[in-house]
Amino acid sequence: MEEVLSYEEAVKRAGDSIYRFPLIDVQGVPLMSTVADNWKSISEFCPDPSDLLISTYPKVGTTWTQEIVDLLLHNGDAEVCKRAPIAVRIPFLEKFSAPPIPSGLDLLRQMKPQRVIKTHLPIELVPKGFWENKCKVIYTARNAKDNLVSYFHFERMNLTQPEPGPWDGYIHKFMKGECEKKRLVCWGSWYDHVKGYWKECKEKNILYLLYEDMKENPVREIKRIMHYLDLPVSEDIIERIAQLTSFQVMKDNPMANYSFMPKPVFDQSISPFMRKGEVGDWVNHFTPAQSKMFDEDYAIQMKDTNIPFRFSIH
Ligand code: A3P
Repeated sequence: MEEVLSYEEAVKRAGDSIYRFPLIDVQGVPLMSTVADNWKSISEFCPDPSDLLISTYPKVGTTWTQEIVDLLLHNGDAEVCKRAPIAVRIPFLEKFSAPPIPSGLDLLRQMKPQRVIKTHLPIELVPKGFWENKCKVIYTARNAKDNLVSYFHFERMNLTQPEPGPWDGYIHKFMKGECEKKRLVCWGSWYDHVKGYWKECKEKNILYLLYEDMKENPVREIKRIMHYLDLPVSEDIIERIAQLTSFQVMKDNPMANYSFMPKPVFDQSISPFMRKGEVGDWVNHFTPAQSKMFDEDYAIQMKDTNIPFRFSIH
């Protein structure tokens, strides 16, 4: 019979197996060794056509998008959406087991379609089955500078990813993302990630959302998701979902704020998961010289795309 562990016991036993995993090259993309070791099962995962994928580069408001989708699918029922931590309600495809949260694949095996699935994989690594089965895919992106700041603080507190190191060096790491022999940022180049999905979004019917648009007008963006999912949700409920998914409400929601993740995995005393939730916090981190250097490189790396990113909204 399967042993049922208490939360505390599960965390205690997990202690030894959780550490800052090194990054391993998977088809040119640096991924945590736990993901690389399990790559065959992850890449062979076959979704049901009714399954929905939420894909993002880390720290763009993935959890925010997940919470909105879960509420839309449950007609704004806040109680139903507190049935379990967000990481259990919407499994993270490539996530290893971090007790008491089972691995993404283990969770998915226990769930019946229609499932909502989270991934950070760049488009070329998304399991083929999602495209073959024409699953709906929502992609959220965020301006590079705020994304970088959020990722920097996250890597300080996420004790399973490589240490970010000092701020100035981190900017350079992020700008490079990856290169042949050096594996720099987990999930690879931000630039390739956002451009990869943008290039395919019409062809593959991907809904491409921007964090800044969601901050500017959450109701408008929630309605875009509702239309994409063909859901008949009333105006009142949309307003309610906007309120339930505001930064402050989600920060206080134990099923969304990752307080369920044990300290050996996320040490929120270093930096909270729900940190600031703003557009333009990058101005508090970049010096004018760092900003100029970043912008010059950005213009080169982004010259072949027209994604309408905004670095401020006022
Ligand atoms: P900051 O670090 O800038 O505060 P992800 O879920 O992809 O890991 O993204 C986390 C980022 O999204 C964090 O950014 C977090 O504060 C922000 N975020 C989470 N929920 C949000 C919400 N409801 N409104 C605005 N920002 C939110």
